[in-house]
Amino acid sequence: MKSLVVYYSLTGKTKLVAQVIAEALNATLLEIEERRPIPKPFVYLSGGFAAITNRGSKINPIDVDLKQCEKIFIGSPIWASRPAPAINSFIYQTNFEGRSIIPFFTMGGNNSENALANITAKIERSQGKVVGSFAITSYGVSDEEIIARAKEAIKNY
Ligand SMILES: Cc1cc2nc3c(=O)[nH]c(=O)nc-3n(C[C@H](O)[C@H](O)[C@H](O)COP(=O)(O)O)c2cc1C
Repeated sequence: MKSLVVYYSLTGKTKLVAQVIAEALNATLLEIEERRPIPKPFVYLSGGFAAITNRGSKINPIDVDLKQCEKIFIGSPIWASRPAPAINSFIYQTNFEGRSIIPFFTMGGNNSENALANITAKIERSQGKVVGSFAITSYGVSDEEIIARAKEAIKNY
């Protein structure tokens, strides 16, 4: 059974990591896109507020049969110590019954504890089982280094 890598990425860092995972595992790659992306100047205020209040955002329809995917990686940037609203929407609208889920994050800082606890609770409410996770710092880190860290992290799976 194929693995699936689903991700949302505003500035490309989570996308980099998702691409590494998909390539390493020969997995299907699926980008979650917002129907109306938040204009850049409002991302911190509006996006951060939506994240902190566990809101979703309107996302484009998804064209993947999750029943074909036993293992699902879910990638998000950390926003206000939580997953991004677009990823909340994906989780809220999906039933993960029987699926093993590996959430992963990119983040400016180096503390992913809150975000992991938050996304785990949401995944479990959607019937998924979290079987692993990892997080990669992106601020002040070159893309090459992010790719190297992602390759290292994926060795565990
Ligand atoms: C609205 C907003 C809130 C953020 N909040 C946090 C945070 O709480 N902790 C953190 O470490 N980084 C935070 N960041 C930084 C992002 O998590 C980081 O830049 C991430 O790698 C971006 O991923 P992307 O390029 O896939 O969008 C925030 C960024 C934005 C835009």
